[in-house]
Amino acid sequence: MDRVQATDIVGVELGSRSYEVRIGAGLLARAGAEIAGLLHRPRVAIVTDAAVAPLHLAALKEGLGDIASTEIVLPVGEGTKGWEQLSTTVEWLIEQKIERRDLIVALGGGVIGDLAGFAAAILRRGTRFVQIPTTLLAQVDSSVGGKTGINSAHGKNLIGAFHQPSLVLADIGLLDSLPERHFLSGYGEVVKYGLLGDPAFFDWLEANGPALAAGDRGLRQRAVRRSVEMKAGIVERDETEAGERALLNLGHTFCHALEKATSYGDRLLHGEGVAIGCALAFELSSRLGYCSQEEPSRVRAHLKAMGMKTDLADIPGDLPDADGLLALMAQDKKVIDGRLRFVLAQGIGDAFVAEKVDPAKVRALLADALKGR
Ligand code: GLY
Repeated sequence: MDRVQATDIVGVELGSRSYEVRIGAGLLARAGAEIAGLLHRPRVAIVTDAAVAPLHLAALKEGLGDIASTEIVLPVGEGTKGWEQLSTTVEWLIEQKIERRDLIVALGGGVIGDLAGFAAAILRRGTRFVQIPTTLLAQVDSSVGGKTGINSAHGKNLIGAFHQPSLVLADIGLLDSLPERHFLSGYGEVVKYGLLGDPAFFDWLEANGPALAAGDRGLRQRAVRRSVEMKAGIVERDETEAGERALLNLGHTFCHALEKATSYGDRLLHGEGVAIGCALAFELSSRLGYCSQEEPSRVRAHLKAMGMKTDLADIPGDLPDADGLLALMAQDKKVIDGRLRFVLAQGIGDAFVAEKVDPAKVRALLADALKGR
């Protein structure tokens, strides 16, 4: 049963770059009041895309009240996160005479947040921006922490900057318009937080995940808040990923290889790759003796109970063989001095970064996982 719940506020404490993540239903409808304190003049530039605009742009503009707004509506999809749309966006912002003290509003999922944030980072050597994430994935991960950027022909997110937003408005009500597959993809990142550092949160997700996925806004808000609290804490301790922040990449070394193998297309959404990657990372941890065999089984059981992609067999179409996947992993930007790094776990809620994993063990794991297809 839905309950009316007050807005939660999670602070990201980074000195002069600190900001709040406000989480609750109805934030879009009062966006003007939420951002008023950040404005030097009553005018904002909105960056969004052609999927989000028909759903939420009118509501945002109405919510802005007396604040004037202008918008650019970009094409939908990962292809938008490249030089062409970045250039289009930055030139448009300059045409719109957006000044350094003005505010850019990113209304959309991870692609829009990353691109608009990077445009803000480079416009006039740094302009402020507000994230209004419209997907679960963006609410729990990409809108928080200041990673902005675009893709290179050589790989994802290879061009970018750390540029923290001035505010994040995570409106839980916007998740109602997400197709189930996209909601569950974002849930892959939610589960990741439990797996990497909070066993009690994972217990809670096992108990509440199905009701949360079915639409309970109160549960959704709690899940987003806990995820954001965990991310905020990690970012505060390690903003530029010199150490602990790498734990947020649990499941991502496998995920990036699988995304590349499926051409970043509809066969595998990012959060689906994260979920499969987390299951593989726990299996690898168990094979390497870091955790018991029960741990990967429990991870997979929860993902399956949620109706999520869990195994390589759940990815439609052909995949490279184990050597091919290993080669794709070697191109990951998390590679340091040519060595593959994995986030592994000593148990649910106890992840760590492993620098020297034997590639033969990874190859054997992938070969076995591919046999299940
Ligand atoms: N999405 C991983 C990070 O923000 O570090």
